[in-house]
Amino acid sequence: MSILSNYSDGFFDVSAAHGFLPTKAPMVKLPATYSDLQNVLDAMPVVLNEKEFGLLHTPNAIVAPVLAIENHVEAIEKETDIFVLQALFRSYSFLASAYLLEPSYQQFKIDGKYGKARNVLPKNIAMPFCKVADKLDVFAWLDYHYAYSLGNYRKLDASGDLNWENITMCNKFSGQPDEVGFIMLHVDINRYSADLVGSVMQTLQALSNGEKNVAPFLEKNWETMKQMNIRRKEMWKASRWQRYNDFRIFIMGVKGNTDLFGDGVTYEGVWDEPKAFRGQTGAQDDIIPMQDIFSGVIFYYPENELTKYLLDLRLYRPKCVQHFFSDLQSSMKGVHPKGLMGKLLDNKDAKSLCFLLGILEEIYHFRNGHWQFVQKYIMANTKYAIATGGTPITSWIPNQILSVIHQMEDVAAAIASIGAPSDTLALSIYEKNISLLPTKRGLIDGQLALIHKNDFSAEAVFALNQKFGYDDTE
Ligand code: HEM
Repeated sequence: MSILSNYSDGFFDVSAAHGFLPTKAPMVKLPATYSDLQNVLDAMPVVLNEKEFGLLHTPNAIVAPVLAIENHVEAIEKETDIFVLQALFRSYSFLASAYLLEPSYQQFKIDGKYGKARNVLPKNIAMPFCKVADKLDVFAWLDYHYAYSLGNYRKLDASGDLNWENITMCNKFSGQPDEVGFIMLHVDINRYSADLVGSVMQTLQALSNGEKNVAPFLEKNWETMKQMNIRRKEMWKASRWQRYNDFRIFIMGVKGNTDLFGDGVTYEGVWDEPKAFRGQTGAQDDIIPMQDIFSGVIFYYPENELTKYLLDLRLYRPKCVQHFFSDLQSSMKGVHPKGLMGKLLDNKDAKSLCFLLGILEEIYHFRNGHWQFVQKYIMANTKYAIATGGTPITSWIPNQILSVIHQMEDVAAAIASIGAPSDTLALSIYEKNISLLPTKRGLIDGQLALIHKNDFSAEAVFALNQKFGYDDTE
């Protein structure tokens, strides 16, 4: 048996077979018992079709339909099918965020500023929502796994694949193509996660068995990351950055967003005190966190608020993913106190170290390209500097890029210390990275200098990336 096995709750199954995606497609609609809830969800998106607007378009139009929904807490108590529970969690998450954040959205339409949200969730919604959250063992707020992203897709052509152009959202807020493209691209990238998880598990298994030839698994990991970065760049096409504000407000969390929610949200009939949970964010995705643990970037994380936040976000994932991360982390330390890099160096395995360097370069590309997303989709669009997950976005993300560069420099030095490999592919990765590391250094130093200036601008970050040849839009 593999040393990493059994990370499943029946809906997700972190494995070489499913990666981070659900074991099968999520339910599109709720069972008939919940038709009143389903009807409100269907009528809710700002735009329903080319001719009609939905409830969220008109101020307060959502209130009466929400209050009229039956309190389904007893029916939910009896549910045992994880796919039904997931669809219920997704449905109540969407309903709660839409109901609470609708006034903020209306204010935004008037003057471009997020207005105060409602902060009381009525009993008929709060009780069943918290019941289903309890059954899934997650916080009662829209999350990335069960609700907004990975558990929210449906194929348009059943025989097609999970390319973002062939999938749409089961539940929506804005109902416009930019929202669909934005979040479905996350699913698209994750369709390669089975190969990535597989390569991680194979490497770990081999090293734990005392085998030395792990280069083929690391090559697979590197190739998969390259593919993921190619798909990631599709974001510029899948969702126009100028339209990010059409739906951004609805995915805000409560924690960190006191301007919108004050002390928090009161869940009537559940808790006496208001609660503040974090909002859904791509930072709840599993690819980069797994790669950070596997490659050893976590040893280089800076001590700052983003690092604390990333660790806090581990709690905002399904329990099976949390267990996977924590077992992976201790297994990597079990392989060597300094993780993968330490073990490969002990083995004098220059070829594998080159693939590790290639993997780190892809993590770098992911983060540097992602920083450019943050510039255009958020910074160029709004003065509201708090991200949906509740973080002050401007200053933290680039520090994580610096951690990757630090590790790349150490891996390059490790290869130099034992001698470059003869393998042509591995050698080409090494040589390319040796020549480009100073460029990456120059670029990150320039980007960090920019964010410390008072007149910070997204355009300046883009110009700098262009100058160094790393413009993500190309
Ligand atoms: C237009 C596209 C995107 C925007 C505007 C965006 C925005 C952000 C923001 C603002 C953060 C800071 C944390 C927070 O949410 O509070 C963040 C973090 C993060 N996002 Fe995204 N994101 C985008 C696409 C993606 C995609 C496609 C993925 C992966 C599939 C992803 C994965 C992550 C990760 C892993 C972090 C944690 C920071 C790190 O480890 O470097 N994001 N994102």
